[in-house]
Amino acid sequence: MKKLETREDVEFLVNKFYEKVRTDETIGFFFNDVAKVNWDLHLPKMYSFWETLLFGKASYKGNPMMAHFPINQIEPMEKRHFDQWVKLWTKTLEENFEGENAEAAKTKAENIASLMGYKMEMARR
Ligand code: HEM
Repeated sequence: MKKLETREDVEFLVNKFYEKVRTDETIGFFFNDVAKVNWDLHLPKMYSFWETLLFGKASYKGNPMMAHFPINQIEPMEKRHFDQWVKLWTKTLEENFEGENAEAAKTKAENIASLMGYKMEMARR
């Protein structure tokens, strides 16, 4: 199994993850139907996001939370959706990578998903 070390590794990981996401019964519709995501724009953003989180590169400039509030207003983003997101992310990592960065990618995703889930729930009250 490979270590998660380069921008190319991150691109591979993110591509594999969103392949799962797009066809997922529980969360696919957020991307396909609610946000109608332009993948040519979204994927490079996600490569940079993860490169920044994992390797300390300052290539992502943005606010990861803000993008989700408008989606949450159209279709509630609930805990079960974030659980599924984390499940697919963890599965993609475990199928392809091992080592410290792969573990960090799991932990960071869990933490952000948990915070994001909380913020989305609060925004609906
Ligand atoms: C059920 C859970 C989630 C759903 C349905 C979801 C959906 C989306 C959608 C539809 C977009 C906008 C794409 C566009 O530009 O059209 C987006 C952007 C983004 N998401 Fe998520 N997301 C989820 C969870 C997460 C989590 C847990 C993270 C971080 C670990 C994350 C990180 C991001 C980032 C960094 C962006 C780009 C924001 C920007 O424009 O700078 N998302 N997400």
